[in-house]
Amino acid sequence: MAGSLILLNVFFLVLLSLLAPVPAAPAGLIPPPRPDSTSSSASPNGPQHPLQTLEDDIIICDLFYTGPTTKHPPHHGNRTATLYDNIAHDPAFTKLTQLVTARPAIVAALSTPNADVTLLAPVNDAFKHHTCPPGHDAPPDEIVTSVLLYHLAVGAIGKKDLRPGDLLDTGLELPTLGNRPQKIRVFGHKDHISLNIHSHIIAPDMHASNGILHGISRILIPPPDAFWVLAHIPLEFGIFAAAIRKTGFEPYIRDTPAITLFPPTNLAFKHLGWRRLKYLFSDQGIPDLREIVAFHICSALVYTPEMKHRKKMAVPTLLEGRELDIRVRKEKHAGHRHHPHHGKIIDINDGEARISIADGIAMNGVLHALDRVLDPCDTESDTTTNSDEIDSTPVLASDSTHETVLESIVAMIIDMDV
Ligand SMILES: *[C@@H]1O[C@H](CO)[C@@H](O)[C@H](O)[C@H]1NC(C)=O
Repeated sequence: MAGSLILLNVFFLVLLSLLAPVPAAPAGLIPPPRPDSTSSSASPNGPQHPLQTLEDDIIICDLFYTGPTTKHPPHHGNRTATLYDNIAHDPAFTKLTQLVTARPAIVAALSTPNADVTLLAPVNDAFKHHTCPPGHDAPPDEIVTSVLLYHLAVGAIGKKDLRPGDLLDTGLELPTLGNRPQKIRVFGHKDHISLNIHSHIIAPDMHASNGILHGISRILIPPPDAFWVLAHIPLEFGIFAAAIRKTGFEPYIRDTPAITLFPPTNLAFKHLGWRRLKYLFSDQGIPDLREIVAFHICSALVYTPEMKHRKKMAVPTLLEGRELDIRVRKEKHAGHRHHPHHGKIIDINDGEARISIADGIAMNGVLHALDRVLDPCDTESDTTTNSDEIDSTPVLASDSTHETVLESIVAMIIDMDV
């Protein structure tokens, strides 16, 4: 599945400083709108955004281009010509040029003097990963325009200024992010920089009169909604996705703009113990599970550069009156310097969990994976009283039983129509 690969790509930690204030979140546990909803594509926030229609295989049609394909390596850049003239005169970018030329607003953005932008320009070869099956309609113009805007980063950024963990603001401003720009995540180290993991910079630092151009190996696809992201990485987030679905939060997570999720990984759920896990996913456990899910959702948009800048902050959750306490500290034995964490650890609730994978981008927010489940419930009494009521058979003990529980949960995900 190309989609899951793309989304897997958008995960990891960050360094740059973003200073946007955190908007206030409504207090109280947001009631799950449709507990057994099977389809949530209709947005309560107005008309569907075109990116909402992006699904597994996002297709940028070759139908747009009928001329010959050239594989010339990109030029070195012409400092007296604009970004647009640079791609238009470079046979390495004929496909991109054709898509851009058909859209006057994008031509204008790339032709403005002092535009001060970075054009991440897919080379012709990048388009081979997005061919249209026969008989398939070309994608709507709005989607192609959105994808092109996602290739414009704010500011002229040379390759040496791209650091692993950086988040680049792009020209794609989304109502689903509160009209803030969607971001691109920088991966790799020093000489092997990639964007959203899969797109490599293969022709860096072509200077134009109004910005910088980097030739890239793959088209950058703006990610779909936060639930889609979770559900398409079941080996990492399948249990949390199942919990979201079981507690009726799926429509909220798909449709609410500018949210932050703190999804515990599957491994984090295993740390709860199988007895507790089985209880939470039983019918009796649903109220507790709902509280746990609500405790991992923040109705404000917070990327880790802001956390690192502030060092200490509290973010409201959907669980009434409960906040997450976020603290950033230096790792004692800072590992190798290329590691995306750069020696910083982000603790949640006094070390109850830490962010293990940061700044996974989604159409309507950001995801920071946690290595432990934050449990807002009174764990002791729950496990001793409730689990005895629901299950008098021996506590799940053998590995095979453990796996059965995990399998049944993951099976729920696999069967999901996402
Ligand atoms: C660079 O661009 C300018 C303006 O478009 C043009 O006159 C010049 O010939 C170009 N130089 C090269 C080497 O292509």
